[in-house]
Amino acid sequence: MKISLSSQQPTAVAADIVAIGVRTAKVDRDENLSRLDRALGGSLLGELMKDEGFEGKPGQLVKLAARGRVKARWILLVGLPAGESPSQQARRVAVSVARSARGLKTAAIFLPDDSPDSARAAAEGVMTGAYQYARYKTGSRKPKGGLRSVTLLASGSEGELVPAIRSGRVVAESINVARDLVNGPPNDVTPVTMAEAVAELAEKYGVKCEAWNKKRLEKEGMNLFLAVNSGSAVEPRLVHLSHVPEKPVRKVVYVGKGITFDAGGLCLKPPKSMVDMKCDMAGAAVTVGIVLAAARLGLPVEVHGLIGATENMTGAGAYRPGDVISSHDGKTVEIINTDAEGRLVLADVLAYARGLKPDYMIDHATLTGACMVALGPWTAGFFTGDEELAASYQAAASHEGETIWRMPLDARLRKTLDSDVADLKHTGASYGGAVTAALFLQDFVGKTRWAHLDIAGPAFLEQSHENSPKGATGFGVATGVRFLETLAREAAQ
Ligand code: BES
Ligand code: MN
Ligand code: ZN
Repeated sequence: MKISLSSQQPTAVAADIVAIGVRTAKVDRDENLSRLDRALGGSLLGELMKDEGFEGKPGQLVKLAARGRVKARWILLVGLPAGESPSQQARRVAVSVARSARGLKTAAIFLPDDSPDSARAAAEGVMTGAYQYARYKTGSRKPKGGLRSVTLLASGSEGELVPAIRSGRVVAESINVARDLVNGPPNDVTPVTMAEAVAELAEKYGVKCEAWNKKRLEKEGMNLFLAVNSGSAVEPRLVHLSHVPEKPVRKVVYVGKGITFDAGGLCLKPPKSMVDMKCDMAGAAVTVGIVLAAARLGLPVEVHGLIGATENMTGAGAYRPGDVISSHDGKTVEIINTDAEGRLVLADVLAYARGLKPDYMIDHATLTGACMVALGPWTAGFFTGDEELAASYQAAASHEGETIWRMPLDARLRKTLDSDVADLKHTGASYGGAVTAALFLQDFVGKTRWAHLDIAGPAFLEQSHENSPKGATGFGVATGVRFLETLAREAAQ
């Protein structure tokens, strides 16, 4: 998709569709709308909006046939919620126009201001909004065409806006890479093929990539990770991506849960809970997206991505409830429920990651159904004991329009992980399941500054919601990139 910049008026731009964000149905209350209205003759827009029942409510869309009154063929009015920043408005309008323009070739987006931030968000929005997963569709089921070229209408400085558009493109492509990995069916995206696909992407973008096989994991004593793999016919992989710039100002390790299919192991899931369990490697996919973006944007931060990839299956060698297994850092863990596999993989990978001595360690995992019970499908649970990290991660998320919600690492629940036979058990009390999962992870991070994002809800949606499509969303990539950019900017000051 080509994305270009123009200072033309929305009335003068030649495109199949021109989109504009609207916060009211009263044309004269909105400067941009009244300008458009004047170009349309002075009263037509209000009448059309009335005929179409457009009130400017959040999420409301109206596609009006321009019939020669402006140069574009269609006008798309996008209702916006109150109180959002210009860049969030730009992102919403861009996502909407990309979705509404499936049969069209060219679009223009009128930006709410001339800031680089809005241009970036619009570029990101139009490319993520156009996303479709079509790999397995054939013949007439295969979607054709789609937007080829998009013009962003703003009159800011080209020197600032053009690089911003490029950043938006990089973030969007990274989000879409993550979505493709998650949407890929579990017989196609296995730990082995995922590691290969990631290595290919890494090579393409100049990122270092190393993958450990089962033998190497045995040598490194990653027995919790291997226990989860023990019921699977496919080998596990630990993939290590690294972006190491010349003079890094900080070092961050991202860790991702990469269960390419979670059957639950011997504590088998019921069919309804199993059906979308290809999504259980979304943490890994987000991690890949963040590292690739960091490298492509040339961020002066050393960024590592570690993904623990395996299936959780029921084969004859499968690990059992009651087993006691020792971790990479030498703790013994009593297995309670084999469906709580993610924290076992993460425990070993986090223990290894802390050895890289990062300034920050951030993990993403579709870890618990309990987190969805607590927060619903659109919000990630955010756990950290570090107030500074909390503030800056939350600021990054809110900038990117991703909802994360701080959850407590309630130390009182830690005793429910005490075991009679081992150092600890891996599941705790029945209430507070997202918290006890996070508390289990906390035992493996040592003194490293750490945050955990439980993305079980927002990583994969049953229905599209706001800017996110149905299925894989790539949730977490944009926030992760924004966090790294902020670190770099603050270190430079
Ligand atoms: N992968 C699941 C969590 C999940 C559920 C992700 C729904 C996405 C959507 C995880 O491995 C799991 O099975 N967790 C168990 C933990 C329990 C056995 C302590 C759960 O949430 O039920
Ligand atoms: Mn599970
Ligand atoms: Zn799982």
